[in-house]
Formats: sequence, structure tokens, C-alpha cells
Amino acid sequence: EKGTYDHFMLKEIDEQPFVIRRIIQEYEKDGNLHIDPEIIADVKEADRLYIIAAGTSYHAGLIGKQLIENIAGIPVEVHISSEFIYNTPIISKKPLFIFISQSGETADSRAVLVKIKKLGYKSLTITNVEGSTLSREANHTLLIHAGPEIAVASTKAYTAQIAVLSILAYMVNEDNEIDLHHELSLVATVIETLCDRKELMEELARKFLSETRNCFYIGRHIDYYVALEAALKLKEISYIQTEGFAAGELKHGTIALIEKGTPVIAVISQEDINLNTRSNVKEVRSRGANTLVIALDSICAGTDQVVIDDVHPLLTPLVTIVPIQLIAYYAALHRELDIDKPRNLAKSVTVE
Ligand code: M6R
Repeated sequence: EKGTYDHFMLKEIDEQPFVIRRIIQEYEKDGNLHIDPEIIADVKEADRLYIIAAGTSYHAGLIGKQLIENIAGIPVEVHISSEFIYNTPIISKKPLFIFISQSGETADSRAVLVKIKKLGYKSLTITNVEGSTLSREANHTLLIHAGPEIAVASTKAYTAQIAVLSILAYMVNEDNEIDLHHELSLVATVIETLCDRKELMEELARKFLSETRNCFYIGRHIDYYVALEAALKLKEISYIQTEGFAAGELKHGTIALIEKGTPVIAVISQEDINLNTRSNVKEVRSRGANTLVIALDSICAGTDQVVIDDVHPLLTPLVTIVPIQLIAYYAALHRELDIDKPRNLAKSVTVE
């Protein structure tokens, strides 16, 4: 039910703080974060993890790679399911396959699961739907507890998938120094404050996106992965042709597309990339781009239009994506489009 909302998408964006808190609760046992020890044992035993997913879930997988490699120290490859099936890489000696799928029904991902099962490899599905095909057919399941996601554009499932991946990474290396319980609670609070700033996001959507036919999201490192998800979100509901681009790669060709008024939105959440991404912003601005910066508080500049309270550096995608989701929503709203059911798309893609 939409309740007082005009669209499921906005309702689902607003539900994100609640979902993060529910995930903490669901994964808590005797006051500590907890995951089935059999799953943890299978992850620890693996010499390499292969994350397989499509669309937004693939983008969550890219963040998952950062979390698992940084916290748990296990190498991770992330693959688009429809590509992996043909272009299968050389597989390590003891792989574990992790399928990320909101619906648990995506045919491209299922095809990979069928294939790797035949090869005798173990699997874990991270999904929102208990009893879904991918959940039933994999060795293990972790639920993301996001509640039904109705809007075609995935929002709360993305943040929930990342939150669960962070708990998985954390449980695999109990010697890590992160107080994840505290950090995720902080994330929930920061998302809440962002959801309270809808007027600003609406104004930014109007100012930067109402006239344009194209748009760029740029970032480096983890922010680049967020830029990919940002571009998908904006293009699928507003039909604005949007690219998510590695900020440093622009000057190797794509900067030729920048002309007067092209919106370029930069995501800046990490100290080590701050100055370099800012110099890329300058480069495009001097070529006429309309630049918008979304940055974390501790590294922000006075001119940044969206400043977000600090969270743990590995968890920044959970907060930087929220203004991006809202901006996409308002861009589509201003264009009077069918936000929850964009053209040519279905909520779950059950053909290969
Ligand atoms: O149900 P899944 O997570 O497997 O779905 C994967 C993609 O089809 C899905 O994320 C799609 O990209 C969304 N429309 C993105 O908002």
C-alpha cells in the first residue's frame, strides 16, 4: 500500500532507515551481530568469491567487493550474470558463488546458478524474497529484510543488500576493528536526515535536470560504483541519457561530450580521492558543465550543494545514494512520467 505517498518509489526511499534498523535486529543474537556459522565457514574456506548479479544488484555487488576485500581480506570478482554465462573466467580452486537478487527470480542469474551447480561449486543467495528460485536452489540464503519492493526502480533493496554484505564481511573477520552495529545505526540516522531534505533535492532536480537530455555522474573508487547506480536510477525513470563514469577517465575521451549546460554530478566520499575528483569537476566546469557536488561533511567545500554527515568510509554508498535516488525521483516527477512503472521495464526479468 502506498499510504500517503503518490509513488511507491518515494515510500521505499523513505523506508530505508527503518530497513537498516530491521537488518541490524534480524542479524543480532545475544547483543552481537550473527550469521549462520555454516555460511561463515563456507566463505572462510573459499579462496575467491564470485558475486553474480544484474542491474542494481550488480552495483550492490561492486560495493560488496570493497567491503569483503577490505574487511575480510578475501579476493572477490563481481560479474554481470548475462555476461558470466558466456564469458566465464578461469575459476579458482575453491570458489564460493554469491548471487545477489532482490527478487530471487532473475533468469540471467539463475542460468549461472544452474551452470555452477553442475560444476559442483557451492552458492549463497542474498535476496529479499524467501522461497524464491535463487534462494531454493542455492546452498545458503541470507535475506535482506527490505519488505516488498514494488517500484521497478530498486532503492531500498540496494541499501539493504549492501548492509547485509557489510555484516557478512564483518562476520568473516571477527578481528576487525569496526563497531559495525554502531556504524549501521549511524547510517540509519544519516539517511533519515537526508530524507528530510526533499525540498533541496527537488530544487536540485529542477535546476540541473529539467531541461537536459543527458547527464553524467562521476566518482572515483567506491564513489565510481555509486555513480554507476546513480546513472541507472536516473535513466530508468527519467529517460535522461545518463552515464556513470570514473572521474579520472573522462579526460581520456568522454570529456568531448561536455558542452555548455551538460549536468555533471560528482560523488565525493573519500579523503584520498577528494582533490583529484574536485579537479575533474573543475575541468568540466571550465568547459561549460553545470556541476553539482555531493560530498561528505569532513571533506566538503563551501560550494558543495549536498553535504552529508560523516559515516564509516566503507559504508558511504549507503548514504550518498539517497540524495541521488531522490533527485532521480524528482527529475521523473517533473517530467510527469510513470515513476513506478517506467516504459519497457518489468520488476523482475524472467527471460535471458
Ligand atoms: O531482482 P534482481 O535484483 O535480480 O533484479 C536485477 C535487476 O533487474 C534490477 O536491479 C533492475 O536493474 C532494477 N530495475 C534497477 O532499478
